[in-house]
Amino acid sequence: MERTFVMIKPDGVQRNLVGEILARYEKKGYKLLAMKLMRVTEELAHQHYAEHVGKPFFPGLVEYITSGPVVALVLGGKGVVAGVRAMNGATNPANAAPGTIRGDYGIEVGRNVVHASDSVESAEREIAIYFKEEEILAYEKNV
Ligand code: CMP
Repeated sequence: MERTFVMIKPDGVQRNLVGEILARYEKKGYKLLAMKLMRVTEELAHQHYAEHVGKPFFPGLVEYITSGPVVALVLGGKGVVAGVRAMNGATNPANAAPGTIRGDYGIEVGRNVVHASDSVESAEREIAIYFKEEEILAYEKNV
């Protein structure tokens, strides 16, 4: 089954949006394979966002992502990588379409509520950063 890594970022947790965001992914039909409330350490942030190290926004990104608890998720399903990206909307919430998570709940690129992997390869890389394989559950779901 195709899998993706999703994070509800500190602003999403602070603003009580966790249930609302989870409900969207669940109602779409994606399968919840793993979930945890956790803090992102500086080390984890550097691993996760390795491709952005050295960019002007990187220090602010690390400060933001380590500022409070996040919800880390693994979701599964047909086309889940592209599907979740579409549900999240454009990276900059100012450009995200209404009806998307960022379009409905954000206005700042530095506070963009959610993260999702951009390819099947980055999904597997990011899942391995945040989860041990035994934390990802295999179970039947037929609806
Ligand atoms: P995300 O999808 O998690 O991937 C990289 C993150 O970097 C992005 O969401 C934003 O949170 C952040 N980001 C990208 N571009 C900018 C920018 N120009 N200014 C501030 N933060 C950015």
